[in-house]
Amino acid sequence: MDTRPIGVFDSGLGGLTALRELARIMPEEDLVYFGDTGRVPYGSRSKDILVKYARQDTTFLRSFDPKAIVIACGTVSTTALDVLQAENDIPIFGVVESAARATAHVTHNRRVGLIGTNASIRSGAYERALEALLPGAAVTARACPLLVPLVENGRFQPGDVVAETVISEYLAPVKAAGVDTLILGCTHYPLLREVIGAYMGPDVALVDVGEQCARWVKKQLEWKGLRNERPGAGRHRYYVSDSTEDFSALASIFLGEDVSGEVEQIEITAY
Ligand code: DGL
Repeated sequence: MDTRPIGVFDSGLGGLTALRELARIMPEEDLVYFGDTGRVPYGSRSKDILVKYARQDTTFLRSFDPKAIVIACGTVSTTALDVLQAENDIPIFGVVESAARATAHVTHNRRVGLIGTNASIRSGAYERALEALLPGAAVTARACPLLVPLVENGRFQPGDVVAETVISEYLAPVKAAGVDTLILGCTHYPLLREVIGAYMGPDVALVDVGEQCARWVKKQLEWKGLRNERPGAGRHRYYVSDSTEDFSALASIFLGEDVSGEVEQIEITAY
């Protein structure tokens, strides 16, 4: 039993896809979320800068004495997971491994689509994890750098003509490859799930990497004896590195509850 909070971070709103699932399956856990909204998007940055940001995000979350940290960001998981794990004496979870496991379980024809940020696709990390579990699977990967700014600007609703146009252009080769499973390799993309699902059609399974990671984290905390078994609902706090208004408004829509009273701005470069 461990009542300390779980830290969760992303470049912005995307990690809320993991946080929402963590809150759903472990309602008694305290969660501290950091969204680096002052420096989003991460996906077009170099490895050195990403490692620097990831260290600062982790140092900030460690000020809450968390029992574990969830990197709810495909970009950081694919480029800095090993660095953070080597430098921290608490469990650090990324999104790649659990997404590969879920994909191996779901695909029938072993043709898998993968979308993510430039940095994630460039890293090859998802392909390596898939190759270990599904040797010889055909992976069609596409970097989709315009999707994170669309989501951060609230352009993720079905019927949004800009979102629909961008998605159909990015996904055309993935659809043409005949995939039966599509990994949404960036945690922002599930906010576009309806638009992506409508384009790919009902026969393509979508793997939400934040959701899969949350389920993996629950199992790991159970195995390690780190779950909070105290009765009652956990507290959820949110921190951002830019002004709180836009984040609060979009997070409240996505999470289906008003979070504005729990969102605070911090100076991340101080960490
Ligand atoms: N949610 C982050 C990811 O999963 C977005 C990265 C970005 O800010 O470009 O990759």
